[in-house]
Order: sequence, then C-alpha cells, then structure tokens
Amino acid sequence: MSTIGILNGPNLDRLGQREPEIYGTATLADLEELVRVAARPLGVRPEFYQSNHEGALIDRISTWADAGVAGIVFNPGAFTHTSVALLDAVQGSGVPVVEVHLSNIYGREAFRHTSLTARAAVAVITGLGFEGYAAALRFLAERPRNAV
Ligand code: DQA
Repeated sequence: MSTIGILNGPNLDRLGQREPEIYGTATLADLEELVRVAARPLGVRPEFYQSNHEGALIDRISTWADAGVAGIVFNPGAFTHTSVALLDAVQGSGVPVVEVHLSNIYGREAFRHTSLTARAAVAVITGLGFEGYAAALRFLAERPRNAV
C-alpha cells in the first residue's frame, strides 16, 4: 500500500482557534480524520506531519522522498509566499506534490497572491477548505493510473 504525506506548515496546528471566519472552526485533528476517511477507499495510507518551522518541513520532505512516498499534499502556510528553501526542497524531492490552501489565496491580500512553492507543484488547490486535501489525495492516489 503506498503512502501519501500530508504536510501542514505554520499555524495550521491552530485550526479551530485561528481566524475562524477565514479557516472555519474545525481542528487539525478533524482535518486528519477527514483525510483518513477519504484515503480508505483509495487504498493509500496517509501519513501526517505539521510543523511551524521551515527547516523541519524541509527535513520531512527529504525523509518522505527517501522513503518513497507516492505523493505529498502540502499546505506551506505563510511560507508559501516567502520560502525559496521550501521551493527547492519540493523541486529536488522528485515527489509529486499538490499544494493546497484552505482559503482562496487570490481573494485575499496582494502578498498572498504569489506562491513561490507552486512552481514546483503538480497542481494547486486553493479555497476548497478541507475538501481540497481530499481532492489532492484522490488525485495523487490515482495519478499512477492517469499519468499526468
Ligand atoms: C493558507 C494561506 C496562507 O496565505 C496563510 O499564511 C496560511 C494558510 C491557507 O491554507 O489558506 O497560513 O495556506
């Protein structure tokens, strides 16, 4: 059974408390449960990791790449807009990454309209809330058969 990494960046550990008018009232644990349920019929095993630290996220991408994960669903949080180091990590990983954002980054402040990490991603899903993670997981699980 292949593994798909679910990687969440800074402040996503605060889901449920953090700006609920933007991110909703459900927690990171709720998100992980939704992904677990979505993974069952797909026959993939989700592995979860969240960190507020850029280096820890980079290390986890390398660890998962070396372990041969089938893909990574990645919400880099605010590092999306700032981190060349995370772009390099995704680019150098050889792993298909789908970037997800809970909110629609294009409907928000101008500084959120640029994603440095997106150019290394296979696809970007922005504004679908938790459903974006399930859609990304489905895409990555079925990708070997659809070969994009
Ligand atoms: C986010 C959008 C980012 O701009 C923001 O810094 C986040 C969350 C999202 O999921 O909508 O932390 O990635």
